[in-house]
Amino acid sequence: MPENNNGRRRLLVTTALPYANGDIHLGHMLEAVMTDIFVRYHRLRGNDVLYVCADDTHGTPVELSALRQGITPEELVAKALENHVRDYAGYNISFDVFYTTNSEENRHYAELIYENLRKDGLVVEKEIDQYYCDHDKRFLPDRFIVGTCPRCKAAKQYGDVCEVCGTTYEPTDIIDPACGMCGNPPQMRSSEHVYVQLSKREDFLREFINRPGVLQSDMRNFVKTWIDEGLREWCISRDGPYFGFKIPGKENKYFYVWMDAPIGYISSTDYYCKNNGGDVMDYWKKGGPYEIVHFIGKDIVYFHALFWPVMLDSSGFASPASLRIHGFLNIQGEKMSKSRGTFILAREYAEKVNHPQAAEFLRFYYGSKLSPVSADLDLNKDELITRVNTTLANNIGNLHHRAMVFCERYFDGQVPEAKWDEGIAAQVEAAAAEIAGWYDSGNNKLVVEKIQALGSVGNKYFQDCKPWESIKNGDNGAAAKVIVTCVNLIKALAVFLKPITPEISASFEKQLSLQLKWDDYRFSLSGHKISAVEKLVVPIDESHLEALFAPAAASQEAGAP
Ligand code: 2FM
Ligand code: ZN
Repeated sequence: MPENNNGRRRLLVTTALPYANGDIHLGHMLEAVMTDIFVRYHRLRGNDVLYVCADDTHGTPVELSALRQGITPEELVAKALENHVRDYAGYNISFDVFYTTNSEENRHYAELIYENLRKDGLVVEKEIDQYYCDHDKRFLPDRFIVGTCPRCKAAKQYGDVCEVCGTTYEPTDIIDPACGMCGNPPQMRSSEHVYVQLSKREDFLREFINRPGVLQSDMRNFVKTWIDEGLREWCISRDGPYFGFKIPGKENKYFYVWMDAPIGYISSTDYYCKNNGGDVMDYWKKGGPYEIVHFIGKDIVYFHALFWPVMLDSSGFASPASLRIHGFLNIQGEKMSKSRGTFILAREYAEKVNHPQAAEFLRFYYGSKLSPVSADLDLNKDELITRVNTTLANNIGNLHHRAMVFCERYFDGQVPEAKWDEGIAAQVEAAAAEIAGWYDSGNNKLVVEKIQALGSVGNKYFQDCKPWESIKNGDNGAAAKVIVTCVNLIKALAVFLKPITPEISASFEKQLSLQLKWDDYRFSLSGHKISAVEKLVVPIDESHLEALFAPAAASQEAGAP
């Protein structure tokens, strides 16, 4: 691949791999939308982008859930893959590849990276004591041990954290431990495990986190504290039975799911290349031309900022150029919770919101709130209605409709031939540069604010110039200038909105038989033929959202904890 790419950037972009063990919910969708906006923006600019994702398939929960359902883990993950692909597609998430970590490619890279970590002298083996259930014939992960919290004495708590008082502890600290599956008391057994000594790569990690663009500054400080406190050894093995890859040369040992999960980024790229051409190493080799950008939640920063770069670096793969970290999604001001009815699945939102543009509106709402800080983000019903109606329906939709209907009625179904207003053209030009920078840095909130401001400029201009009066007075030339200006402005907004609301922009494109790229915010549509005019946006109201938010409202009223 030539190093000079005519000034086009090359990006390999990822959304964190969702667990096969669960459904896609609106929190997943926040991350996917955030990534997709970035990806679509760069594609629109003509940059070379590969957007990669996969299901994260391994681990005890998948294995046990399959066991309970009387199916094989392979069957479970196949079903999950189908569901996940469908759910993401419903929100126009434009993956180039959505694969699985349970693949031969992933096994290959997991073994390769393990081998290289060993060659680098980073792997050690140690005997440790762990709870074992004689009835179920397995070692018990922390989440499969239940007992009484050693601190507050709350019953029925997990082996790693008390959900009542929030204390974290070792599973051996818990009082009256029992197996989470059969309820029998577990025994202590020793077993040998494989550890990666991250501390040996401390210098590399300090250098890595300080590279410009790798981490937002608040997050960099956070990760630096972890390094300062001393890097923990990381256990990458699990005892069988385990759904995952066997560790070569070890009896009944498997790679821990978090070892092979991020490797899924590489193996999915490989799978893409096999099917579409290209060489996986062009994307992943150290010093190669691609910028690797991972979008992740703040709960998995440790894995991506510390474990993952060491794994990559040991094998001659490139380290991430950027980790884009977001906060959690709350619903109506509360944590997402199944018992409170605020755990909203992607497909539930799509089914219950009785509006043809429901998914597009969620994308817009998220876009209007996303910025490059990892603060939590709230999904609020009234705010969703207000934001969608204010910007999309009443501002942009309104300007579009007025201007296009004018073309139909008075200019023979064409954008009139005239020069567009220079002042407004200049504002669009200045906005384009700002918006480009904000898209690249993930400041989508400012993008939307700027679009809203430009829409208001257009509506005011239309109102102040009164083109209907010009027509009445026989001054078609004056009306033509106003209308060509408004249609050009709308076109620019359709370009600027395309990464966030691709369907709304597509509807505009269809009405003018166009395919807009980024630079098309600039040319004039003077004299352009219009096919049938359609409203870009149907406003949304309470009635569309009632069914979705009813459970949350009921639980708030009942004062659920
Ligand atoms: O936290 C999660 O949902 C994990 N399944 C994310 C994995 S991301 C990557 F490392 F594979
Ligand atoms: Zn048991």
